[in-house]
Amino acid sequence: MSRLVNKHIIVAVSGGIAAYKSAELVRLLKAAGAQVEVVMTHGASEFITPLTLQALSGNAVHQLLLNAKAEAGMGHIQLARWADAVLIAPASANVIAKLAQGLADDLLTTLCLATQAPILLAPAMNQAMWSNAATQCNKKQLQQRGYTVLGPANGAQACGDIGPGRMIEPTQLLEYLTQQFTGHALQGRKVVITAGPTREAIDSVRYISNHSSGKMGYALATAAYESGAKVVLISGPTSLLAPPDVHRVMVENTNQMLTASQQACVDADLFIASAAVADYRPVHVSLQKIKKSATASRLVLELEENPDILATIASQFSHLTCIGFAAETEHVIPNAQAKLACKQVAMMIANDVSDNDIGFNSDYNRVSLVTKTGVEHLETQPKRLLARLLIDRLAQL
Ligand code: PMT
Repeated sequence: MSRLVNKHIIVAVSGGIAAYKSAELVRLLKAAGAQVEVVMTHGASEFITPLTLQALSGNAVHQLLLNAKAEAGMGHIQLARWADAVLIAPASANVIAKLAQGLADDLLTTLCLATQAPILLAPAMNQAMWSNAATQCNKKQLQQRGYTVLGPANGAQACGDIGPGRMIEPTQLLEYLTQQFTGHALQGRKVVITAGPTREAIDSVRYISNHSSGKMGYALATAAYESGAKVVLISGPTSLLAPPDVHRVMVENTNQMLTASQQACVDADLFIASAAVADYRPVHVSLQKIKKSATASRLVLELEENPDILATIASQFSHLTCIGFAAETEHVIPNAQAKLACKQVAMMIANDVSDNDIGFNSDYNRVSLVTKTGVEHLETQPKRLLARLLIDRLAQL
């Protein structure tokens, strides 16, 4: 399956004759399973109609920075956050110069300043413009800031010149983009990840659970797979789709999650416990629905402790690097440090779940990495970007 399945790709088109190739690029991306949003500069729309790119991407094209309708819908900040990657194709000399200067005078440049996603650009211009010292200096600056410059190719140009400045072909751009989601940091490793909530039955129709959606764990599973790992995702009940090429084991309750984790960890290298596991379960599970009493206004449930999956795995599999998440509502760092020591794991990733904008069920999270040697705070970001960052860090362990 293509690594681009369900990836959020922004194709940003600037003014140049090569803009006609962006239609094929969008078509190829859609065929590879990516979700595509197109941003066009005013110049680009002189070369290719927004309607063409709308028809191919399946989404209205974004053209204006200050557009009341767009800002109420997918405004520039939302677009910036939505993106897994931004591909500027073609990238004109003017756009490259503006980006090098950090200008934000249209939607494309503003989006590039606002996004945390990787930005790739495929220059296309007259060969003399490309060779000009100013353009070369701008290109170098962008590379130093982490932009990936793809091409340009050599050859005959629309203006009649011959030389470097042709936009590289859409099929090649697709390959480069795919490589963005193909890492090697965990090549040959097996990673087991728990995700989502567990449910502890009270009777045949009721249960105890929590608000975990599984988003954090699923994002980690995708990121681990994209880093080259073989991934087993042990998931509590959630409506999320299994990430492509990840082996998912669905479980219901804590004991099932423990058994599945023990089986999967035998030959694993890394165990990441992101699941929100129920600490207690009802002692008695009624096979029939418990009836509302006509006389008693209280119902007392007796609970017993569940096994601690993370601590059990860490003690049973000494070869394994074990990582936990600490979901806290107060004293976040001291509590995470206590869990690090008590569960004997390499790292606790602490998040403040009292903040509704992050943590449970949000697309965003803000975490602190707590180890024996210190604490590192990471800024709020989409879970899928955070997951990539975390996987890179964990690979270094
Ligand atoms: O799923 P989302 O909506 O995306 O939300 C993500 C999240 C908030 C659930 C996630 O980021 C998170 O914090 N997961 C850990 C939730 C939790 O149970 O935290 P805890 O502090 O109670 O537990 C500490 C660690 O021990 C966790 O790694 C947990 O998986 C593990 N644990 C806890 C209890 C238990 N009986 N067995 C365990 O393995």
